[in-house]
Amino acid sequence: MQRFDWNDKYSVGVKSIDEQHKVWIERLNSLSSAIESNQEARLISRTLDFMMDYVEFHFAAEESLMAAKNYPDLARHKGEHQQFRNTLMDLFMLEAEKEDSIGKIADSINNFQISWLKNHIQQTDRQFAEFLNETSAALAGTMPCRS
Ligand SMILES: [Fe+2]
Ligand SMILES: [Fe+2]
Repeated sequence: MQRFDWNDKYSVGVKSIDEQHKVWIERLNSLSSAIESNQEARLISRTLDFMMDYVEFHFAAEESLMAAKNYPDLARHKGEHQQFRNTLMDLFMLEAEKEDSIGKIADSINNFQISWLKNHIQQTDRQFAEFLNETSAALAGTMPCRS
């Protein structure tokens, strides 16, 4: 079973975003553990819901921050979040059609999520974080100095 171990190379350089990614990863790893220990379907599906709740919370938080900061690449970034939801739903339907067990469904969702998240954090989220850091540095530069 794949797990996602956080390390500093996944930091985007904005604390609040890093903290949310860490919680997502924690919930993702709880799902891995639930699958690995052959938990009952009821429990796996609860762990899956628990994780998805956080994914939605995190996407909404990032998207409202992008909107508040007039981030020029908001539409594309939002599109990637939507693509993630679509792929997840497709995977779910595909596995459900095969009448696979909830453990098998959660397993493929888990694998997809780990590779998507590593990629999205290191590219798309990092671009937004760089924009945030640049704009706040620019704003700080225009602040009058008080002595
Ligand atoms: Fe994102
Ligand atoms: Fe993110």
